[in-house]
Amino acid sequence: TYKGSTFPPKPPILEKGPEKHFADITNYNTRDNDILLCSSQKSGTHWVHEIISMLLTQKTEYNSHGPMWELNLEYLRQPEEVEKLVGPRIFTTHLPFSMLPRKHIEKRNKIVYLNRNLKDRSVSLYHFLQGKIGVPVWTWEEYFEQTVLHDTVYTGWFNFTKEMTEAVKNSSGHIFPLMYEDLVLETKKNITNLAKFLEVPYTENFINEVIERCSFKNLKGNKRDVSEVIQPDKKSTLFRKGVIGDWKNWFTVSQNQQLDELYHKEMKDVDIKFKYEYSQ
Ligand code: A3P
Repeated sequence: TYKGSTFPPKPPILEKGPEKHFADITNYNTRDNDILLCSSQKSGTHWVHEIISMLLTQKTEYNSHGPMWELNLEYLRQPEEVEKLVGPRIFTTHLPFSMLPRKHIEKRNKIVYLNRNLKDRSVSLYHFLQGKIGVPVWTWEEYFEQTVLHDTVYTGWFNFTKEMTEAVKNSSGHIFPLMYEDLVLETKKNITNLAKFLEVPYTENFINEVIERCSFKNLKGNKRDVSEVIQPDKKSTLFRKGVIGDWKNWFTVSQNQQLDELYHKEMKDVDIKFKYEYSQ
């Protein structure tokens, strides 16, 4: 626990202690062409990481293998290996805006901000955590009460979203906001806009190829599994359904009402709208 928020007990935090660990991240020197992919948990990080990687490398090869396939900002290991990597590098993180590397923000270097509606991300996270070693085995009801209504992980979805919404408002185009639902509904338009933001060359054919290679079906068959942290009898749930609106299969009427009330209370002054179903 650090400043009222909770974080997975990963070795780098435990070794250094949270104070020093998070100070090191804020003081971390990124390169000017590094990309930060800042996402709330379960909002399509692996999907968008793959898309950005293809756009930057101009190749539609999966970037999913090897120890450095993903540079997770909050748990960076082997810093000397990270320094050796040829850029542009993509750092992923679930940290809120206020905990990101300060200089990256001051220099207005690129940030891709990814988010997803709270209801679907809660269902996705529930399944992702099922069977993970060290995580309690919750029923959906227990999970809803204990974590959805009292979310403090990585400072919680509300705080993450409020900080990022404000940051986007104050940015001068160096933060690219991308909603999971928009990417599902208008994949081509959003990937093209992402290519423009990243200032990479692209053709329609190339974008189509990226879409195809990064489709749910193809990624599910190709991306790294999370089996190393899953109990042997459980299945990986990293690529589970990939749809909008699955929350309706999980939320009771009363849970839906409770979360709507909490959402309204937390977000009443925040200028952002999420899509909860295909037809919106
Ligand atoms: P579900 O659990 O709802 O299926 P993250 O990478 O941030 O952990 O997000 C995982 C979620 O993104 C999962 O949601 C996963 O299925 C979804 N996802 C991954 N690739 C996708 C794709 N190509 N199209 C749609 N959803 C995708």
